[in-house]
Amino acid sequence: MEIRLLWLGFCAFSCLCRCASAASTCKLKARFTLNGYKDVEKKQVVIGGMFPVHKRIASTNSNSSRAPVSSACEGFNFRTFRWTQTMLFAINEINNNKELLPDTDLGYVIYDSCFTISKAVEGTLTYLTGQDEAVPNYRCGDGPPLAALVGPGGTDLAIATARILGLYHFPQVSYSSTCSFLSTKYQFPTFLRTIPNDVHQSAAMAQMVLHFGWTWVGTIAADDDYGKYGIKDFKEQVEEAGVCISFSETLPKTESPEDIQRIVDTVIESTAKIIVVFSSDVDFSPLLLELLRHNVTNRTWIASEAWITSALINQPEVGSLLGGTLGFGVKKADIPDLQRHLLDLDPYDDDLTEEFWETAFDCTLDPVRAMRSKQRGANGTRTEREAAVKFCSGTESLSKLNNTYSDVSQLRITYSVYKAVYAVANALHNLEHCVDGQGPFKGKSCADISRFEPWQLMYYMKHARFTVPHTNEEIYFDDGEAQGYYDIINWQVNSGGEVSFVTVGQYNGSAAPQDRMTIANGQTRLYCANCQPGTRKGIRQGEPVCCFDCIPCADGEISNSTNARECVLCGEDDWSNEAHDTCIPKIIEFLSYAEALGITLIALSAAGALVTITVVFFLHINTPMVKANDALLSFSLIFSLVVTFLSSIVFLGEPQEWNCMTSQVGLALGFAIALSSIMGGWSHPQRTSPPPGTRVDTTAILCTVWLIVFPPHPFKNTKTQVDYIYLQCARGSDVLMCIVFGYDVLLAFVAFVLSFLARKLEDNAREGKSLTFSLLVFFIVWIAFVPAYLSTVGKFMVAVQIFAILASSLGMLICIFLPKCYVILVKAERNTEETMKPRPKPRDGSSTGTSASLSTVATTVTTAID
Ligand SMILES: *[C@@H]1O[C@H](CO)[C@@H](O)[C@H](O)[C@H]1NC(C)=O
Ligand SMILES: *[C@@H]1O[C@H](CO)[C@@H](O)[C@H](O)[C@H]1NC(C)=O
Ligand SMILES: *[C@@H]1O[C@H](CO)[C@@H](O)[C@H](O)[C@H]1NC(C)=O
Ligand SMILES: *[C@@H]1O[C@H](CO)[C@@H](O)[C@H](O)[C@H]1NC(C)=O
Ligand SMILES: *[C@@H]1O[C@H](CO)[C@@H](O)[C@H](O)[C@H]1NC(C)=O
Ligand SMILES: *[C@@H]1O[C@H](CO)[C@@H](O)[C@H](O)[C@H]1NC(C)=O
Ligand SMILES: *[C@@H]1O[C@H](CO)[C@@H](O)[C@H](O)[C@H]1NC(C)=O
Repeated sequence: MEIRLLWLGFCAFSCLCRCASAASTCKLKARFTLNGYKDVEKKQVVIGGMFPVHKRIASTNSNSSRAPVSSACEGFNFRTFRWTQTMLFAINEINNNKELLPDTDLGYVIYDSCFTISKAVEGTLTYLTGQDEAVPNYRCGDGPPLAALVGPGGTDLAIATARILGLYHFPQVSYSSTCSFLSTKYQFPTFLRTIPNDVHQSAAMAQMVLHFGWTWVGTIAADDDYGKYGIKDFKEQVEEAGVCISFSETLPKTESPEDIQRIVDTVIESTAKIIVVFSSDVDFSPLLLELLRHNVTNRTWIASEAWITSALINQPEVGSLLGGTLGFGVKKADIPDLQRHLLDLDPYDDDLTEEFWETAFDCTLDPVRAMRSKQRGANGTRTEREAAVKFCSGTESLSKLNNTYSDVSQLRITYSVYKAVYAVANALHNLEHCVDGQGPFKGKSCADISRFEPWQLMYYMKHARFTVPHTNEEIYFDDGEAQGYYDIINWQVNSGGEVSFVTVGQYNGSAAPQDRMTIANGQTRLYCANCQPGTRKGIRQGEPVCCFDCIPCADGEISNSTNARECVLCGEDDWSNEAHDTCIPKIIEFLSYAEALGITLIALSAAGALVTITVVFFLHINTPMVKANDALLSFSLIFSLVVTFLSSIVFLGEPQEWNCMTSQVGLALGFAIALSSIMGGWSHPQRTSPPPGTRVDTTAILCTVWLIVFPPHPFKNTKTQVDYIYLQCARGSDVLMCIVFGYDVLLAFVAFVLSFLARKLEDNAREGKSLTFSLLVFFIVWIAFVPAYLSTVGKFMVAVQIFAILASSLGMLICIFLPKCYVILVKAERNTEETMKPRPKPRDGSSTGTSASLSTVATTVTTAID
């Protein structure tokens, strides 16, 4: 049954039956090495088959100094081996079927295409030319007629073989070649398939992308016609609908770490989270491993039918990467008894099965090799690979092996293989049961099952219509094509990281457009390049509308829907939150009574007022000093200091009408009284200056005008800082405020000048000095205040102002009263009537003159101020 020979001659001349004997004129040009199955003995018809049992041909070091040999294959593929076994199973089933081809035994010739075009061509030529000798255009020998070829897997292989088979009008039924290009009838006149054309799949993918509203996708295609045509059709359809393609990458056919790395980088860098992969599992798996290594997650993959349920892709740990994948699977079916057939393998049957067994169990069936390996092992010189070689008896249990080969839970392409074999068998059946005189051929003739021509079978293939056993699906070729029907499969990952394939919908390409797809939301990561709330779409000039950037909203603006066109400005009292997706009230700020700073300031103010009262009370008890200078200790000065201390409290709290008015006015009046009292202090002896009341009156009048005409009022300052509302007191009128406080400053300045001059006078020396000093403190505090005030914002402006008030008041209190307390406490003996009494005025003029003239100046100035 097994073959491993098939050397094919390439004769240049006709040899029909003379070939064998014409060795002298025929020349063998090449020897092909082909693996496969063959059973043609005593069979009436032979069906061809071709499967990519290996993944590639072994790389050969081309050595031009040696005759080239047909390459060997490597990379055993369990999945496609299952397909091969399914064909054997189906032929066996048909041969045992009493209704289908009851009088005809089917034989078969099956080759391994190694997923390589050259091997597929070798196989096709060998098959076409029949037996051991092969000549294109001729069939040697008189064996059973050849029926159709089932296969080969893979689009590129199908194109290559279909071109050759088409030359002879030889029917070909493909089970896995989906490329739309293969439906061009004038190029591939005898190509049929039991798997849907990719035109449907591309349309289905496009519809899915549109269904979910994905507008920004990347594509990865295999570097073959399958990938290229599939992606091309997909792109055409989605771009028409306004979807943008972020990147288009092509998977290398040969091992190429640089290309794989480049694709990984592209995937990582791209903002597209939807990636369509149109590729076979074999081509996609190297990229997958690299993506896994880079922990590339959070992408939604769209799978083509070739890898959606492949065990080559569904490796351990891919759940994190491919969980949520959506893809299209061809129709699935259960084929009873197939599993029994798959498990019932004799490992010694043939080379392929032997290799399968050894690969599956990781052992060798050859006792000699095992022995040698063991010996080498004993010598301690064995390599890693040799170490793995153990002997297997051939009685190992396949059913215990969790191998995709024996996994019959997702029979999709397997089912397609099964249908293809039945399609050929049914066509043969119809050919066999043609009634003479009613036949389709010239003169209503029929073909003869024992020697029909390929084109005659082709007629029956095209017109075949049958139901598949077990599944009862009705099959017919619609111009060579199968129905465009897919299951939509979703990779769902359980908590253990295991992937299960869940069918979440269907796509029926023959239904009306709006009914084609039904899909439930599976476990899908619905990430897409939507502009999230907080950003807006920025359309790129000159590019399709779907190509946009997501531009973050400016501060103070929000967008609260996805794909917003505009950001909306928040209201006046609102500001955007950090994510820019909702407006939040601005932070309202003022210096409140309750907070630590407020409490501290209240305490300081109260303490200041208390100290003032205490000190004065203390001084009053310790007469007679008080009487000596009652002006300085006058009720008005004390009152004013208490007022200024306490007015600072009014600055605190949420600004209202009343406290805005009282705070400034209270402060202005307090200072006016204090300064007037001080001026009165030294001009008192002569009593020539107007009483302090006049100057205070002036201030009071100015303040009244201020309060009535331009009253200070609370307002919300939103200008200083965008996300804050500072509750402040507006000054009402800057001019009036300047006049009011300017007047205070003028008073202070005059008081300072006069006290500076007066400090030299004997009778006022001590007071003069302390007054000068207190006014100096006053000036320093308020000069320092201006820059400090201007450089702070919000509630700290109020705090600075209060500090200035407290500092200046305290400064005055200390400078005026501390010396007196000092005298009372430390130099108690000086605290007598004598020392405190004004000294008798000296008779000589100089001193008196100075004093008098100073008094006159003072009086003049103060009167002028008044
Ligand atoms: C090519 O083949 C020749 C003869 O078999 C051998 O001597 C030579 O080393 C080979 N060269 C390479 C590169 O394998
Ligand atoms: C991927 O994740 C694993 C474990 O979480 C970590 O050890 C490894 O460094 C990550 N690799 C990369 C490239 O981030
Ligand atoms: C994937 O998305 C989830 C949820 O959106 C997020 O928490 C996680 O950080 C993301 N992981 C990566 C690697 O970006
Ligand atoms: C194993 O070692 C013995 C001697 O230690 C040597 O004679 C024999 O050739 C070795 N066998 C192999 C297979 O290397
Ligand atoms: C095969 O899978 C089954 C369940 O899926 C598990 O219980 C068993 O341990 C697996 N066997 C091997 C050899 O991995
Ligand atoms: C697909 O739709 C066509 C037309 O509506 C219908 O006849 C056919 O049965 C559907 N196929 C499947 C598998 O549902
Ligand atoms: C989005 O903002 C607008 C205007 O601010 C508001 O009317 C609407 O209710 C908001 N929508 C949501 C979902 O928050």
